[in-house]
Amino acid sequence: MSDKKQQVSRRQFLNYTLTGVGGFMAAGLLVSPLRMAIDPVLKESSSGDLVNVGLSVDDITSEPQRVDWTVEQVDGWYESEPSRSAWVFKNDNGDIVALSPICTHLGCVVSWEGSEDYPNQFFCPCHDGRYEKDGTNVPGTPPLAPLPYYEHEVRDGILFLGNPISREGA
Ligand code: FES
Repeated sequence: MSDKKQQVSRRQFLNYTLTGVGGFMAAGLLVSPLRMAIDPVLKESSSGDLVNVGLSVDDITSEPQRVDWTVEQVDGWYESEPSRSAWVFKNDNGDIVALSPICTHLGCVVSWEGSEDYPNQFFCPCHDGRYEKDGTNVPGTPPLAPLPYYEHEVRDGILFLGNPISREGA
């Protein structure tokens, strides 16, 4: 009789142990994907931050100059440092203008005075797209929208740039 009691007790012990281990494993399997799904949403996005592009405002002239920098980007669990570029200059009013170099036609990179035939314009070598100095697309060339401009701020005499803002439909 005492043998039977011991056998039942062993069974119970085995049941408890297996249930406990199984429950622990199931919790691990559930919590991990749940955390992966929710955690990035709870993290603060840094995409709207303005970045020091290392250019003194005193060095900005009326001649567009290309500025390159990198941004820290967090996309879910993936962290990267993509590079960005802008054409920066002061317009006739002395205001700072920072234009995206990405052609609004099919995304090639435009250059200031990139063609000898079209001085004082941005030129896209892919399909001969052209833009005026203020980024307005030249009618009759492939791009149908102006170049986006970067939001910007000057802090202690240094230029900070944010995200490019589309002027499509402007
Ligand atoms: S990509 Fe620039 S003109 Fe086509």
